[in-house]
Parts: sequence; C-alpha cells; structure tokens
Amino acid sequence: MPATSSRTAGFGESVIRRMTRVALEHGAINLSQGFPDFDPPEDLTRALADTAAKGPHQYAITWGAANFRKALAEKQRRFMGIPIDPEKNITVTCGSTEAMMAAMMSVVNPGDRVIVFSPFYENYGANAILSGAEPVYVPLVPPDFDFDRDRLREAFRLQPKALILCNPSNPSGKVFSREELEYIAGLAEEFDARVITDEVYKHIVYNDSPAGHVYFAALPGMEKRTISCSSLSKTYSITGWRLGYTIADEKTTDVIRKVHDFLTVGAAAPLMEAAVTALGFPQNYYAGLLALYTKKRDVFLGALDRAGLRYTKPRGAYSGRAHINYDGSVSGRVSDAKGE
Ligand SMILES: Cc1ncc(COP(=O)(O)O)c(C=O)c1O
Repeated sequence: MPATSSRTAGFGESVIRRMTRVALEHGAINLSQGFPDFDPPEDLTRALADTAAKGPHQYAITWGAANFRKALAEKQRRFMGIPIDPEKNITVTCGSTEAMMAAMMSVVNPGDRVIVFSPFYENYGANAILSGAEPVYVPLVPPDFDFDRDRLREAFRLQPKALILCNPSNPSGKVFSREELEYIAGLAEEFDARVITDEVYKHIVYNDSPAGHVYFAALPGMEKRTISCSSLSKTYSITGWRLGYTIADEKTTDVIRKVHDFLTVGAAAPLMEAAVTALGFPQNYYAGLLALYTKKRDVFLGALDRAGLRYTKPRGAYSGRAHINYDGSVSGRVSDAKGE
C-alpha cells in the first residue's frame, strides 16, 4: 500500500482531544478543551428552531450568507472601530480553525517563516505543517508571559512572512498590552510582515486588564497588514456550530475566499441564518458574558488557592471548566461532550 503523505508524519493525536478522551474515561473534570458546559442563549436556540422550520437548508454563497456578513460587519465595526465592508472584507469560515488555516494557506509559501509566540494553541503547529511554513518560536516567559523585545526583533530579522498573534492568548491567559501590540506593529511595518490574529476570546478580557481587548487591525497602519481571524464559538457558547470568519483587505480576502471555497465550500447555511440573531445582541450581553466568566475564574482560582497550587492569574480567555451554576455554587459536573 502506498504510504500516507509525509506532510502528516509529524502529526500526533491532538493533545486537547486526548486529554478530553482520558478525562471522560476517568470521570475527571475536563480542563483541557475550551467549550462551555451550558447552553447558548435561549434567543439563539429559538432562532435555530425557527430556521429548522423555515430554512435555508441549501448551500449559502461560499464566502458567507449576505445577511450574516452584514450583521457581522456592523457588530465588528462597532467593536473594532474600523470600516468593514461585508462585500469586500469578510469571509465566513467553519470556525476560527478554518479561518486560520485558510489565512495561512493564502499568504504562506512552503519554506516561508512564520513567528509563533510560545506556548501556543496547538493548531498553529498543524497550520504551519500543512501550509509548509517554518515556525520561528518566540517565548512568552512566565509568570507574566512577557516576551523579550530583542528576541522578537531577532525573529523578525529572519524575514518572516507573518506573525501569528493569539490575543487573548490560549493557553497562557495573557492579554497583550497596547504597548506590546504597538511594538509588534512597528516590527511588522519595519520588516514588511503580515500579522494573522486569532481573537476568539476577544470578549473574555477580565477587568484587571485595564485596556480591555485591543484589536490588532485597529492599530494605526495595521488594517492592511492584518488578517483578523475569529469566531462566534466562545462569544455565544456555540462551539459546535462552527461559525468563524476572517476580516482582511479586499485583495487578500479575494484569495482567502478561493482557498476557503476549495477547503469547505462554506459554513452551514441554517446556522448562519440563526446566528444573525446573536450578532444583534445588545452591549449588555457582552458585559453579562464577561461577568459570568469572571465569576468562574475567581471561583476556580479560589479552589487552586485552597489546594495550595500556584498559578498565574489569567487576564483573558477561558479559565477553568469546573461547572459553576448561575447562583455561584460549583457542581463539578463533567461535561457530557464526546470531545471530537
Ligand atoms: C485560541 C483558539 N483558537 C481557536 C479555537 C477554535 O475556535 P473555533 O471553534 O472557532 O474553531 C480555540 C478553541 O479552543 C482556541 O482556544
């Protein structure tokens, strides 16, 4: 039998999926995979039921249904403060996972270098392998997960095609400060590199990060250099709906749309239709989400304190998956998800 591709030889089982499987096997609380163990907002599940009855059920336009892109552009314009044209700048993907892959395949040639801050979300390793990129790792150093500016400059001297920026950062919980982001932006400009962001946790930035979330694309001059990747997974507690997107300049978007078309054809039409409801949620929805996760974080850290374990206080992103009820009590329920 001819061998499978050498490209895949370096792939192991996903650490996250393995930990989920082992946690389920042993009845442990699963802290490894980032998804909520509560249902999405009721308005959203109701919209999904309506869509089941009314449709659409066939392919949407490959780069995303027009009404979804319009609602997304409006919402993101509000938060990012930059102009976003739903016809020219948005590609709807199957989660941020596909957005990152499509972005990498759209800009990276085999052998191109890509800077990755480490520790990093494990998919970036696979993204690099599949697109033929050579990762250049720059450490984020505990306890605060700072990076050495000279080290980053050294990495840029290798003429990378792009830098991957996960902010808020999984797995460290780091939230990059505006000053750090401006330093990165300066290097991207100086060395003419692109920045591919993964901002799935943009609405989960705890209030002890004074600046909140700073969108890299909104920094002066960075709109044209940035491919912003994100999704609805974490913000609306719909990780299974697989709705993500890229926001980029028109020319880059044109290429991303082609890659995306050949990868997946498109995101699920009925789920886009239902999710338009979420994109119209008022500001207080986001405040409520943050309050909920802040409470979860603080309960979890309290438990670590009591157990005598040391930790770095996460400034953003998910922070532990002990199940915390809305009244603040902890049930420790193991999620019934299958982990795939
Ligand atoms: C940093 C990061 N990016 C992307 C994803 C996956 O997001 P999506 O569901 O949008 O594909 C995760 C999920 O845990 C994540 O932690």
